[in-house]
Amino acid sequence: MTRITTFYPRRGRVSGRHEDALTRLWPRYGVDIAQPWTPLDQQSLFGRRAPLVLEIGSGMGDATAAMAAADPARDYLAVEVFPPGLGNLLAVVEEQDLPNVRVAQGDALHLVRHMLAEGSLDAVHVYFPDPWPKARHHKRRLIQPDTVALLRSRLAVGGVLHCATDWADYAEQMAEVLDADEHLVNLYDGYAPRPGHRPLTKFEQRGIAAGRQIFDLLYRRG
Ligand SMILES: C[S@@+](CC[C@H](N)C(=O)[O-])C[C@H]1O[C@@H](n2cnc3c(N)ncnc32)[C@H](O)[C@@H]1O
Repeated sequence: MTRITTFYPRRGRVSGRHEDALTRLWPRYGVDIAQPWTPLDQQSLFGRRAPLVLEIGSGMGDATAAMAAADPARDYLAVEVFPPGLGNLLAVVEEQDLPNVRVAQGDALHLVRHMLAEGSLDAVHVYFPDPWPKARHHKRRLIQPDTVALLRSRLAVGGVLHCATDWADYAEQMAEVLDADEHLVNLYDGYAPRPGHRPLTKFEQRGIAAGRQIFDLLYRRG
């Protein structure tokens, strides 16, 4: 199945620091999302097989690094199409000597569909996905019934899909789609209280500055 892309054609040049980090650290920490598809080998990528968290659309990656630093027993794979963000995350991973972060560049949906085994994830984080506010663009939103079914299939039973957004109508769409998936169970009655383990992200800060409310949704694979 091919799907229209969920991201904007980008935007932003790679600075010297980020380019340097990408060049030097990619062979050690990077995963290419490219054909021919190769199943992800967690043992050789991380040097262990800990519970694996996938973050889709990690942006500049500062929140990813903070979460991974606070949660050393799990491994974090951050996926982003935007090279400067990946370069920034790699630079932070090196500075903070974080052993449990790896990064993948490209469309996360290709990675999930073609490179991740069913039941292989402990959690999927989708924090402030591109909102595509115009109605004619809603089909580009990441959280749709088909992508949720795909993401859920890669979660282990008991694994958690955690979405957050600052767009009220997208939050409603997320709740509708997640509630409709009969294999997902809402961990809360409606929206979740802001989880203490989710750091403030860059786009969340923008949303708050613009006066928007933040919505968290946490669902477990039943
Ligand atoms: C609005 S930004 C949010 C970034 C970050 N999570 C934050 O809260 O600051 C959404 C990010 O998701 C990325 N993205 C959107 N669709 C994606 C996909 N299919 N695969 C990988 N990254 C994607 C975009 O490139 C963009 O950087």
